[in-house]
Amino acid sequence: MKKIVVLTGAGISQESGISTFRDSDGLWENYPVSEIANYDSWERNEEQTRGFYNMLLKKLIKAQPNEGHKQLVRLEERYDVTIITQNIDDLHERAGSKKIIHLHGELKKACSVTDNSEVYPIKGDELKKSDVDKNGKPLRPFIVWFGEAVPMIEPAIKECEKADIFIVVGTSLVVYPAAGLLNYAKPGCKKYLVDPKRPNADLSGITFIEEKASTGVKKVVDELLKIN
Ligand code: APR
Repeated sequence: MKKIVVLTGAGISQESGISTFRDSDGLWENYPVSEIANYDSWERNEEQTRGFYNMLLKKLIKAQPNEGHKQLVRLEERYDVTIITQNIDDLHERAGSKKIIHLHGELKKACSVTDNSEVYPIKGDELKKSDVDKNGKPLRPFIVWFGEAVPMIEPAIKECEKADIFIVVGTSLVVYPAAGLLNYAKPGCKKYLVDPKRPNADLSGITFIEEKASTGVKKVVDELLKIN
């Protein structure tokens, strides 16, 4: 069975009503990264950081997977598919994709402040100040913040090295190491990029579909199901 790797970013969830980060009116325009998405900000102002991720979690609970997420599931009829997502939402899971690697953490989970590999599901629709790990230490959002290691990058690289086909959807390709994953594709790997905006990256050898995920992903999937 041929192997497909799909790298997704915030753009694939945009049509589910979830804000991207760097588009106009994106999350980082309204909430400065320096005050939210790093360990220092957690130490400086836990309340604010917890509140930010709880706000995103409440939105996610109301959101639904869109056509972009759903079309990717069809590929599993004829291909071995791994989704590598930078997204912290669970919309690929809810659409029905089976193999998903989350590079930047998951909004519906929390982890111990002393060991971020100790992960717990968040109960209800918010992480509370009183939520603690098995040793009574506070829980923090299970998010890979700027400046932190990305533990899932190694398994992600292994998948990329095996890909016969590589599809990138809805990412500005500016945040590393995720943005470098395409470089691990073997020679001859067929590459697609779906995004309504041309990213500031070298697109040689890549079929660029300048569309939103809902329509662009369908085009790629229809083509790939026709040729295999
Ligand atoms: N369909 C497809 N792509 C879209 C859509 C859509 N409906 N709407 C917007 N996009 C595209 C934008 O054109 C842009 O290229 O999605 C991309 C979103 O880029 P970013 O906001 O930078 O999001 P992303 O690339 O996922 O960010 C990477 O940065 O802040 C961190 O941890 C955060 O995982 C995130 C990482």
